[in-house]
Amino acid sequence: MKNIDSSTHVRGESIYLDDIPLIRGTLFGVAFGSPVAHGIIRSLDLTEAETMPGVVRILTYKDVTGENQIGGIVPDEPLLAEHHVHYCGMPIAFVLAETDNEARAAVKKITVTIEPLPVITDPRDAQAKGELIVRPRTFRLGETAAAWEQCTYIFEGVADTNGQEHLYIETQGAYAIPQENNGIKLYSSTQGPTAVQRAVTKSSGLPMHQIDVDVTRLGGGFGGKEDQANMWAALCALATHILKKPVKYSLHRLEDMAMTGKRHPYSSDFKIGLDNDLKIIAYEVTFYQNAGAAADLSPAVMERTLFHCTNSYFIPNVTATAFCCRTNLPPNTAFRGFGGPQGMFVIEAAIAKAAESLGVDAAVIQAKNLNKTGDEFPYGQKAESEAHACWTKAEELYDIETIRHNVASFNAANVLYKKGIALMPVCFGISFTNTRMNQARALVHVYTDGSVGVSTGAVEMGQGVNTKMLQVAAQTFSIQPERVKLQSTSTYRIANTSPSAASATADLNGRAVQIACTDIVNRLKAVAADVLQVRVDEISLQDEYIYLGDKKTDWYWQRLVMEAYAKRVSLSEHAHYSTPDIHYDATKEKGHPFAYHVYGTALVDVTVDCLRGTYEMEAVKVVHDFGASMNPMIDRGQIEGGIVQGIGWMTMEEVVFDKSGRLRSNALSTYKVPDIYSVPKEIAINFLETQQDNLAIFRSKAVGEPPLMYGIGAYFALRNAILAFNPTTTIPFDAPMTPEKVLLALYDVNPALILANDQTVKGLEVTG
Ligand code: MTE
Ligand code: HPA
Ligand code: MOS
Repeated sequence: MKNIDSSTHVRGESIYLDDIPLIRGTLFGVAFGSPVAHGIIRSLDLTEAETMPGVVRILTYKDVTGENQIGGIVPDEPLLAEHHVHYCGMPIAFVLAETDNEARAAVKKITVTIEPLPVITDPRDAQAKGELIVRPRTFRLGETAAAWEQCTYIFEGVADTNGQEHLYIETQGAYAIPQENNGIKLYSSTQGPTAVQRAVTKSSGLPMHQIDVDVTRLGGGFGGKEDQANMWAALCALATHILKKPVKYSLHRLEDMAMTGKRHPYSSDFKIGLDNDLKIIAYEVTFYQNAGAAADLSPAVMERTLFHCTNSYFIPNVTATAFCCRTNLPPNTAFRGFGGPQGMFVIEAAIAKAAESLGVDAAVIQAKNLNKTGDEFPYGQKAESEAHACWTKAEELYDIETIRHNVASFNAANVLYKKGIALMPVCFGISFTNTRMNQARALVHVYTDGSVGVSTGAVEMGQGVNTKMLQVAAQTFSIQPERVKLQSTSTYRIANTSPSAASATADLNGRAVQIACTDIVNRLKAVAADVLQVRVDEISLQDEYIYLGDKKTDWYWQRLVMEAYAKRVSLSEHAHYSTPDIHYDATKEKGHPFAYHVYGTALVDVTVDCLRGTYEMEAVKVVHDFGASMNPMIDRGQIEGGIVQGIGWMTMEEVVFDKSGRLRSNALSTYKVPDIYSVPKEIAINFLETQQDNLAIFRSKAVGEPPLMYGIGAYFALRNAILAFNPTTTIPFDAPMTPEKVLLALYDVNPALILANDQTVKGLEVTG
């Protein structure tokens, strides 16, 4: 089945926040953000701005009617800065004007005097100064201290990954409309309607039942709107609450890039020990997470890093520690993979370091250490592993031996072009790591014309979840998909939603839809049994008809629905689902946090131009563990998108903050994202179909985040190509591998020489 949004998307008819018709009298809000990264506000002058044309009001923290606080996990984030600013772009005032342009013109007239304080941008500096947002955490399996003695080879190193801008096509924004008796209807581009509702409740002082957050769809979220849609919605709602006028704020791209957090950069130390046979015996890793200026989701992201620190490998002795470091950057937040990719990069770097030092192919070490069913993860859960199945199928299907051979002969025959390949196994845990979030609800109405309306807590953000929800309803009722409509996601219809995140949206909400539809089906069957004078268990619903055994009756769907209505039987159901059997004890750092894991293996094949440092992605070939995909077209789309986004993170997307905490890569002219030319020339996706029961909806495993991590293979493939050109070069593990860094590595130039002297090359003789 095609994505149900495809035809309105291509015709430009799909509704996003900016397509909602404006109500007369709507005011436009624009935030004034701190011009410096850290300091104390000594004075704020609004007088000139207040007299600008069209300006109606400028709100500051003094106007907040509830608590000036929107922090979700830790209450450390004011809606509007009071005296202390912690990052460039931190909202200090909210200008309301009759037009968008007038509001932006007035923002430019606000002046603020800020006494500067020292700025921290590096997570290791923050850790050294004790700037931690939450306590550090350590996951342990076995006894690393004792295990080093059993190791023949031990390698240590540092591995860094940079941030990543979400670059959803639709920027952040919200539109608040006053209702009678202080109610507010809020359109918000959010993955978490309830998160928005809570933030509005806290900052406005209104009860949650007064706040209807309504979401039709997002033009992408990628994690960036799991928590960070709250700020803009809360500002609009506050203004609406005070002024009793509709208020809209739709961020410009540059505001969005400067003011919102990104993927967390990490700097990490690793130590890996292997025995004679290249089995990994011990692994020690310390993660320094650059959380930015407030907690946001950082503690949860950090936890997921620890959960994924051994990727798809079984390692008997592990000590993994993570620090959540407070810096003066915009609070970093969820981004596809949610810390998992950062953890996986480090173990892959450790394996690459071992392989390069020992002169073996990293794939030999990878293959030897893949986990098996029954192996224990450092957090205590036992694997139900498809790691070997995916790896072996990829090796056979794509004839990786021949590819290896071809790469070697290409490299022997070419001087200035070198090829590199890497394999990237992935093992990703499905469920919110915070167990209580693994619940969802659905509301299903069957109308007397036989049409069906489905509401869930799921937010459609391009991932196709509405299509999947529709499939669940149509299949459970055994009716034509055209009869089913997915309604917008509204906190009035579905309460206490978990954000659409953790790749678990279809699993959680789909199960709730299935339960609701099944309950209605059972009532309809009882009605049919009554009119046909048979037992309920003789009846089935198939292709819109009631069957008695395999005999079709003349009771078609609509007739049955009308009959149920006439008999005053309920045609509506509200259902609740919560994932069974999951639990986690953070005091012991052990438990069974995930419903299941998704596995896969990718082969990434690149060619480097060794004169220019540029490169091409030749192919990404994947065997992916889908369980039993309920929508192969959508799932393929998720894999293709995830791969390209992962390659972008690993190769070209370079978030640059200067030492004063100002974002330099603040536009698409200075921040390079994958375009059609950087998409791999070939993407092959093969399905590992498995028959085991799992906790996914229709056994169709979650697919949203895991494919991003295939992109990590691009980094290691580039490394291998560089080493084919210059086998003695030293390449720091420092992603992204931009063409500039490739060039430095090809000619063994230490990038520190450049960075040491602020963009000028020190001590480098350019000859020849
Ligand atoms: N795909 C599209 N097109 N747009 C998105 O914003 N977000 C990703 C992934 N795929 C995203 C996407 C992220 S971060 C997650 S967690 C999942 O989709 C969320 O949706 P799911 O739970 O339905 O997989
Ligand atoms: N994944 C994504 N989002 C989340 C999670 C998670 O594990 N926990 C809280 N928010
Ligand atoms: Mo996705 S990072 O869990 O929104």
